[in-house]
Amino acid sequence: MNSYDANTTLHAYASQSLFLDASTWEMTKRPYHRSLRPQALGPVDLNAPLTADAFMNYEALAAQRILTTVYEQDMVLLPKSPYDNWRQDFDLFYSPEARKLAGMVRQDLERYVFGYLEETVEVSSGWTREAFLDFLSTKTARTGDVPRWAKTIQGSRDRVRAAKMWLVQFAPDFLSEASPMLKNVLGNYGPIQSEWFKVIIDEYGYGVHEKKHSTLFERTLESVDLDSELHYYWQYYLASALAANNFFHYLGSEHRNFFRYAGALVMTESTLVEFCEHACDVLNDVFDNQCDVEYFSEHCHIDQHHGRMAREKICLALIDHYGEAIIPDMVWGMLAYERLMDDFDEQFAIQIEWMDTQEDMFSLHKQIAPKVLADDSVPVADLDEHFNELSNSHCHNGDELCHIEAGEMYFFSGLDSQLILGPGDGVVIRNRRQHGADILSDSCQYKIYTIGDVAAWQ
Ligand SMILES: [Fe+2]
Ligand SMILES: [Fe+2]
Ligand SMILES: [Fe+2]
Repeated sequence: MNSYDANTTLHAYASQSLFLDASTWEMTKRPYHRSLRPQALGPVDLNAPLTADAFMNYEALAAQRILTTVYEQDMVLLPKSPYDNWRQDFDLFYSPEARKLAGMVRQDLERYVFGYLEETVEVSSGWTREAFLDFLSTKTARTGDVPRWAKTIQGSRDRVRAAKMWLVQFAPDFLSEASPMLKNVLGNYGPIQSEWFKVIIDEYGYGVHEKKHSTLFERTLESVDLDSELHYYWQYYLASALAANNFFHYLGSEHRNFFRYAGALVMTESTLVEFCEHACDVLNDVFDNQCDVEYFSEHCHIDQHHGRMAREKICLALIDHYGEAIIPDMVWGMLAYERLMDDFDEQFAIQIEWMDTQEDMFSLHKQIAPKVLADDSVPVADLDEHFNELSNSHCHNGDELCHIEAGEMYFFSGLDSQLILGPGDGVVIRNRRQHGADILSDSCQYKIYTIGDVAAWQ
């Protein structure tokens, strides 16, 4: 009898042909192809869940990408533009073998990436209906503050690029918006089920495709010359963005989390109004009123209703029917969601800084390379790659120094962010920052030095 080994199964899953490295930054053969980098899954040990401080480590990025793919095999995805042999990819994506592996590994992946929330999101006991209402109003009240992500975009050296990168981070969620909610429609739980369904009907544009929220978001993307096909920008998603999307699929896939989902739902529907007002302002400003912001303006309107529905017709109705003992679960859902969104904003800010300071990272290499190259104790990898060998986007947990010996490299560090590196050039690669490389010459010889913390070399 075969015994199940989580890591072996994970590797088998990621090694399917659809998930091998891409040879272009943007995905071709959408929506089925997405690189899961099976060759670099070594650090992922599903038996040792990630700790709270590791959510941006390479292991987290790798696991969140796989988990997104696992969830998407539960949804129907068809290519917007059918390509040659798309049917073959469709058959592979939904094959019994792929589905079987996905089913085997899903819960271990969820525990791996979200397990730390169980320890770090603390909820006190003794909740009453009244205390919950108070808590909800403090958490969802208008703040009047300019959100961090808005400051990040407005403060960027390249505001248009930053705003586009921000939109891209929402694509995994908004292009199949409300799909995780559908997981809580099946079953039989009385009138609250129909209230839940009403929210979904709006999200799905009550059957009018032009009004479906995902369609509105496609138009937003297209209006600023971004591609609206699912996962065209697969290589650009940060682990923190994938986590925010996967979290709702996790809550919806495991029905023990139903009350937690209700809490997360009331939080998202209630806070989205102010969020979307800021989004309209920032996008109108940055794109000079050329961005189609209807996705956001529609939410300014509809989520006033959804916030109220989620509060009164779902959360309070659940408490009234099933008792105050369910409140801690709802509070947990609210706090976990809040934490993931704080992480989302903070990591977006760090990513934009990384993209904005590429020239500085180029100069920093020049400054520290003599010292690093002269130090025999620094671990180094010697690489020799051929034309168009694409290192698909990834990150490292410590700082690294890339140094080119011969040939030419295209160093990728996010949407429209790159350096061209020739012999003697290089770049400091900051820890946990997304990057990749393409070889522009017939071949390229370069070295990667694991320098730990760049500050120690300055
Ligand atoms: Fe929506
Ligand atoms: Fe909504
Ligand atoms: Fe790298």
